[in-house]
Amino acid sequence: MLELSSSLKKQLDLALQNAFPEECKAALAGGKALDPLLAPASKPEFGDFQVNGALTLAKTIKQPPRQIAQSIIDQLKKNEEFLNAFEYPIIAGPGFINITIKVSQLIVEIKKLLENDRLGIPSIASQENQKFKGPVIVDFSSPNIAKEMHVGHLRSTIIGDSLARVLEFRGYKVLRLNHVGDWGTQFGMLITYLKKVAPKALTTPDLVNLGDLVTFYREAKKEFDDSEQFQQSSREEVVKLQQGDLLSLKAWQLLCDQSRKEFNKIYDRLNIKLIERGESFYNPYLQDVVDDLLKANLLVTDDGAQCVFLEGISSKEGKPLPLIIQKSDGGFNYATTDLAAIRYRFNTPPNGDGSSYIIYITDAGQSNHFYGVFQVAKRAKWIPSKCHVEHVPFGLVQGEDGKKLKTRSGKTVKLKDLLNEAVSRAKTDLQKRLKAEGRTESMDFIEHVSNTVGIASVKYADLSQNRVTNYQFSFDRMLALQGNTAPYLLYSLVRIAGIARKGGRLETLVDNMEFSQSQEINLIKELLKFDETIFAVEKELLPNRLCNYLFELSQVFNRFYDQIPILKANEPSKSNRLVLCRLTADTLKLGLNLLGIETLERM
Ligand code: ARG
Repeated sequence: MLELSSSLKKQLDLALQNAFPEECKAALAGGKALDPLLAPASKPEFGDFQVNGALTLAKTIKQPPRQIAQSIIDQLKKNEEFLNAFEYPIIAGPGFINITIKVSQLIVEIKKLLENDRLGIPSIASQENQKFKGPVIVDFSSPNIAKEMHVGHLRSTIIGDSLARVLEFRGYKVLRLNHVGDWGTQFGMLITYLKKVAPKALTTPDLVNLGDLVTFYREAKKEFDDSEQFQQSSREEVVKLQQGDLLSLKAWQLLCDQSRKEFNKIYDRLNIKLIERGESFYNPYLQDVVDDLLKANLLVTDDGAQCVFLEGISSKEGKPLPLIIQKSDGGFNYATTDLAAIRYRFNTPPNGDGSSYIIYITDAGQSNHFYGVFQVAKRAKWIPSKCHVEHVPFGLVQGEDGKKLKTRSGKTVKLKDLLNEAVSRAKTDLQKRLKAEGRTESMDFIEHVSNTVGIASVKYADLSQNRVTNYQFSFDRMLALQGNTAPYLLYSLVRIAGIARKGGRLETLVDNMEFSQSQEINLIKELLKFDETIFAVEKELLPNRLCNYLFELSQVFNRFYDQIPILKANEPSKSNRLVLCRLTADTLKLGLNLLGIETLERM
């Protein structure tokens, strides 16, 4: 549950703490601060806030709660600052206190928003004591070379981009890292196979596309599983690659380039910026990982492999679980690379990024992996004090049947196809609507709108779910004009742009502001919740908080728009309402921007 405007809430909290009777303060052991237990009112008719503290303290100081509540109110009535901002408090039920903000105070608050070009959200960039030193690293998207990017990577890409945007807006320097899987045994396999069936592909750029590579990869894998000789040659290829054989490196580079081209097409369509720093980047640091772990006495040889045994978890049989650092054949693992990456990212430049906070956006299936990696990194002392690592997991994308998303023929869904379908359905919807409304629009308009709406819908459908749960992918639901969807939010903005087009100047500030209609007051109160929302997303790394807020705001705005006149209202109401339209538009635009969603003036 969100609270109204963070600064106002803080002010109220303080006033309440001071208003509690001395007996209450004295009764708290160890000089603990009094908590008035301030909460949003459970119903709008109770005002804006509810104070529950009198009830909890009643037992401690053996006084009836209503009596405590009354003495708190008596104190508050002597507090001028309080009286400026709030109506007289009211005791309710067994001893709650209901508090309502004065309209005059709401006006003070929205004026603050209007005078601030960040809608009241401070930037930490200018702060002296920043919580995090160095860049915040957001490790996201991270598909694997020579494999098709799947919907899991799409989720990581969309969620990661949104979190990076929120952190950037808050003033952090963010390093958006694409930890692509560009190293490992798959390359030995692939090169061996291509040498046999399409050797030219290994020396000529652009001869094969990602689709071909995926097919080759599948065939190579099959041969690898069937033939011992193939396995042997593949291993030799990996060794050659690791030793820096020029021809192997060139072939590897070529394969990476082909995949990169396809990935970039998707990133461009989604307007995602990433710095590619794949697994191969950490190759020179893998031996350091082993050396450090050896020095820290953490490394154990188990069945020929070098491992660290994890604390706090065990197998079903109760045996300790190892994190394998170096396999018996000398090869390194996915986990080893991640350890080298942590070590590098926390290290100070020029031997590292000097970060103090890293977040990893991957599917929940990798939770154990990160549990192990983080633990070993901590025990190896690679995570300096006051530095943090956090795995930001998300659930599966399911089809409407509740099973893993598949095409009709049972294949994995290609991202390109998925985005194309969203856009083409958005186009069909749009054309139907234009026809029904008797509108004719240019081809450019239709292309632009359907592209924006299609992409926005895919992104928003993903972001509006609590990321931890699985989510069901449904084109129909995500493209609907009603409900918690991108089209609904975009349409609210289009309505406001329409007001401006019809001659309503979206005012920035007017002299004599006054509001009396509940639709106005409710909209103002909703607008004032934006800052708390952004703080919550930053803290909990849950973009759905922002989506829910924007949905709520659009609903309150649409009630305002439908129920009271704006352009037809008399002055000063007209100008005052146009101020609210402007603030709503600015909030929706910024909010959607932080979700990575483009907005429209007309649709
Ligand atoms: N390439 C991995 C995959 O496709 C994701 C990498 C995530 N990042 C990391 N540092 N492990 O599953």
